[in-house]
Amino acid sequence: MDPVRNPFSPGAGSRPPELAGREEVIKTADMSLQRVVQGRGAQSQIFLGLRGTGKTVLLNEVMDLAEKAGYLTSFIESPENKSLTEMLYPQMRQVLRRLSSIEKAKYTANGALRALRGFASAFKITLGEIEIGIEPEPGIADSGNLEIDLAEMFEHIGRTAAAAGKGWALLIDEVQYLNDDELAAVIVAVHRMSQRSLPVMVFAGGLPQIAKLSGDAKSYAERLFIYPEIGALKPNAAREAIEKPLRDEGVYIEDAALEMILTQTSGYPFFLQEWGHHAWNAAASSPITLDDVEAANTKALERLDNGFFKVRLDRLTRAEVDYVHAMASLGPGPYKVNDVAGALGKDPKSLGPRRASIIKKGMIYAPSYGDVAFTVPLFDDFLRRKGI
Ligand SMILES: Nc1ncnc2c1ncn2[C@@H]1O[C@H](COP(=O)(O)OP(=O)(O)O)[C@@H](O)[C@H]1O
Ligand SMILES: [Mg+2]
Repeated sequence: MDPVRNPFSPGAGSRPPELAGREEVIKTADMSLQRVVQGRGAQSQIFLGLRGTGKTVLLNEVMDLAEKAGYLTSFIESPENKSLTEMLYPQMRQVLRRLSSIEKAKYTANGALRALRGFASAFKITLGEIEIGIEPEPGIADSGNLEIDLAEMFEHIGRTAAAAGKGWALLIDEVQYLNDDELAAVIVAVHRMSQRSLPVMVFAGGLPQIAKLSGDAKSYAERLFIYPEIGALKPNAAREAIEKPLRDEGVYIEDAALEMILTQTSGYPFFLQEWGHHAWNAAASSPITLDDVEAANTKALERLDNGFFKVRLDRLTRAEVDYVHAMASLGPGPYKVNDVAGALGKDPKSLGPRRASIIKKGMIYAPSYGDVAFTVPLFDDFLRRKGI
């Protein structure tokens, strides 16, 4: 069928034609946002899930909701090699500048911008543009201790937003790349916001890695946040993810064809988009048949093998590739670290650094102590398909 009208949208962060199976998460986020902007308590959320499950899409959705609820929003994607302060500084500055144009918030905003100057110098952030006429306020948010200074900056922003009758929503994608101190500082800052009933919320998304939090941050994290698991869609939601966009185009799909898509994708959102996309292109006309989906299987796997899967494998060294192949040789995960070592014929201890490096690259994670698993769904199938 006409590829121009193809409704499916495989791709990182691209909005799906039907955001299926996430009603509960979205409803909770919306309710929390509305409460917090009114000075009432609610929990922030951290979306945890494997790659391609729809975390970025959800964060974007939450951002839209936040804007509708009267928040200024900042979206940061935590990269592997940039510090939190570097990413946050321009966002905080922009939010404060926007708030400072609101008459009621002008005075508070100026104080906050002064604090931000101190913050920038304490964390040696190179200022792109020098803030004309704004002198740093010594002793505010400039101790150099991230946990203290970040909470102070959040408090300034929260008070300014409240004065303006607004809120601030900070969205952090790929949160697993924050180091433990940075994550702890964010949590402590969120705690401060909730203690002071200030209209600031943080929503984050990341791999289901267990953060090594300690002290106050650990106990706050349990109370302040909920951690919705963003995984494969349940069968009915997965069907809806395919059928609804088709229906909107006046196209139908045979039951057997739809079930084949569910089996092939295990209901993972990214794969559903990929299969939907190829099934549409393979079909000559409505309805989409089992033959069409069989043709789509080949195409979709080819594209995944040369794209989604391959780019991830390409980031590994030869020894790391051996490690992940050893994992895949054991079947579907999670895997015991000791079993992987066994498959490689090596002492588990000697493999520690190799494993840590693959975790750092975001390819595998530790679902619990002594276990490893792939962060990409169906990656073990891919490796077995590919052979060594
Ligand atoms: N609820 C959903 N229903 C259908 N497709 C979805 C859903 N959520 C995400 N997708 C699709 O899945 C793919 C991956 O989404 P993305 O947000 O980038 O995942 P993640 O950030 O978890 O890696 C995109 O193509 C997106 O359109
Ligand atoms: Mg993402």
